[in-house]
Amino acid sequence: MTPRAPATLMVVGDVHRFWRAFDADFLARERPALTMFVGDLGDEDVEITKTLAALTLPKVVMLGNHDAWQSFQKRTATPKLREILAVLGTDHLAYEVREVPEAGVSVIGARPFSWGGPSLRSPELYQELYGVHTHRSSAAKIVEAARRAQHRDLIILAHNGPLGLSQDAHDIYGKDFGKPGGDWGDRDLALALQRIEDLGMRVQMVIAGHMHNSLVQPRGEQRVRFCRLHDTMYINPAVVPRVREGQLGSESYFVRTRWLDGKCLEVEEVWADVRGLARYAKPAPFLELGHDREPFAEEEESDE
Ligand SMILES: [Fe+2]
Ligand SMILES: [Fe+2]
Repeated sequence: MTPRAPATLMVVGDVHRFWRAFDADFLARERPALTMFVGDLGDEDVEITKTLAALTLPKVVMLGNHDAWQSFQKRTATPKLREILAVLGTDHLAYEVREVPEAGVSVIGARPFSWGGPSLRSPELYQELYGVHTHRSSAAKIVEAARRAQHRDLIILAHNGPLGLSQDAHDIYGKDFGKPGGDWGDRDLALALQRIEDLGMRVQMVIAGHMHNSLVQPRGEQRVRFCRLHDTMYINPAVVPRVREGQLGSESYFVRTRWLDGKCLEVEEVWADVRGLARYAKPAPFLELGHDREPFAEEEESDE
């Protein structure tokens, strides 16, 4: 029997309309078993969604708060958001599972459109689209999706990361605006992670953006975007903008991961150039979070 080759799973951070033709060339060359988008494609932007949906490769998308911007203002899904959801179809992984047998993992989609922080912003919109209106009911729906997974090793894909990892503005999901400091993570995701682990499944990796690399306050300071706590890797790929100028012209940011039999072997930060080649690739710098971080404690939640 020939040994199995590792599978590549590619991660694309908050797009915010920065998508070039050579990004598709890069993906075509790398042939990932799955490409995962953490959302904020544009501001409720049908055109950029169509561009990404047209990519002929295995992919999943977790839409972000910007992808439902006007819908949150109106507290109901606009025709544009309806169209975005129709264009993506089952590639939008909200409360769903995507199996990746090549990597030995199941990818579980969490709650889409997250703004982070304690409020769901529009429980009405979540009720309309997904039948949830509290963090608790949302957590239950994430766990339900995990129960349908065929693998015990999981990747969780979300727009914003979980509560429980951050204290300071520069932490992976730390609040860097208004009065900076504190944890801007999602409560439903933290609850779901606990319950999924209690079910005996292993959350190998949590992937979520939303909290951009360059802080608003203290201005320009860089966020910690890779950390590990209790055998789970947390990856925040939100380098915004995800393009920069290199020697050959534009370059685009990706996070490239390699997997074998449900275990992650490698996480790299990659800049792809206009030829669609990985021009710079370096191991992602992981911060080991100490045991001084108390596990997230469940609190009573009033209905919003
Ligand atoms: Fe964003
Ligand atoms: Fe966002």
